[in-house]
This record gives sequence, C-alpha cells and structure tokens, in this order.
Amino acid sequence: MIIAVDGPTASGKGTIAKALAAHFGLPHLDTGLLYRAVGRQVQLAGSNPDDPHAAAAACDFPVSLLDDEILRSEEVGGYASRVSVHPAVRHALYQRQRAFALQEGGAVLDGRDIGTVIAPEAEVKLFVTASPAERARRRWLEMTGRGIDVELAAIEADIAARDARDTGRKDAPLVAAADAVVLDNTAMGRDEAIAAAIAAVIARAG
Ligand code: C5P
Repeated sequence: MIIAVDGPTASGKGTIAKALAAHFGLPHLDTGLLYRAVGRQVQLAGSNPDDPHAAAAACDFPVSLLDDEILRSEEVGGYASRVSVHPAVRHALYQRQRAFALQEGGAVLDGRDIGTVIAPEAEVKLFVTASPAERARRRWLEMTGRGIDVELAAIEADIAARDARDTGRKDAPLVAAADAVVLDNTAMGRDEAIAAAIAAVIARAG
C-alpha cells in the first residue's frame, strides 16, 4: 500500500506520516528533506537558490548531508522552498522518490506533490492542512520551546511566503489531488489528528 501525505508547511503532515508508517509497519520518506539537502548544498556553495543552474548542480549532494540536523532549520527551509520551484531540481529528485514509493510492500511518503506527481496511483492520499495562523502558532511554540528567540509575526510572514511559492509554482504546485481526503486539523490536537488520519486510511484502503 502506498500512502501519500501532502500539505503545506507546518501542517503536521510529517508527524502524521511518521505515525501512519509506525502504525501500518511501512517505511517512511520525508521528501522535504531531499529539497532541504539541495537548498543546503546551494547555501554551502555560496550560490543563489533562485539560479536554476546552481540549484540543479546542487542535486548531487552527498548522502551524508541528509543526516545533518541543520537541514531542519528555518533558514535551510527557505532555501529549499526556493530551489524547489526549478523543474530541473524536481526532475533530478523524481526517480529517488518514485523508487521509494514503488518498493515491495509499499511506503508512506510526505511532501507537496506525492499524490499528484510522485505516486498518483497511491491507494490512499491525504491532504493535511490547518489555518495559516494555527500553523504559525505551532511553529512559533516549537521554536521558542527550543530556545530560539523569534517573533510570531516573522513566522507568519515566512509561512505566507512559503505557501505562495509552493502553491504558485508552475511545476508540481501544492494542491490536493482530486481523490485526496482533506484533513484540516486546525482544531485538533496531535493525537486526535493522528487518529483521524489512521481512520481515513482504514476507510480508504479497507
Ligand atoms: O516539508 P518541508 O518544509 O521540509 O519542505 C521544504 C520545502 O521543500 C517546501 O517549502 C517545498 O517548497 C519543498 N518541497 C517540495 N516538494 C516536496 C517536498 C518539499 O517542493 N515533495
């Protein structure tokens, strides 16, 4: 069974995808990490993430980069969002994601275009979302909890910019697949959102 989990930044899709993988005993790929690695490689090279050639060149990043905690930073997330608009970057990362989706026994992948581009044949597609204000509030709580001093307004602006880039790009824009189950978890806690996702998978997959 392939489970595609898509949604905007800070929607909780990563947490839900991880929980689904554990619950159904499937391997999980956080595809955002691949784009983050490309963004980080561009940053390390001192290149411009808006330059398609520099971004494409960064796609042969060393595999060890995927374990670097710095990929989780807001700054690298911003780079990832900028490199991900280039078709050459999306093309370079396609095969790896496709192979993961098609492995024997199935898989859970989370990202922006899993149900629409990477695995359109997925048995279950979830589109996980929450209001921009709630996503910003959660991201702010998480960051201040880690001791990072940041203004809520700055997070709101960052989330709005990433949403605009993700939904506005020509190639593989962020959009719910026509056959996706939309899970808006604005008013849900973590456990409730996970339970709703598990129930949606069971309802779809039987
Ligand atoms: O999900 P995460 O925030 O780690 O993703 C970082 C960036 O990578 C996103 O803002 C998005 O622009 C890009 N991305 C993408 N397609 C995916 C996963 C992530 O374009 N499948």
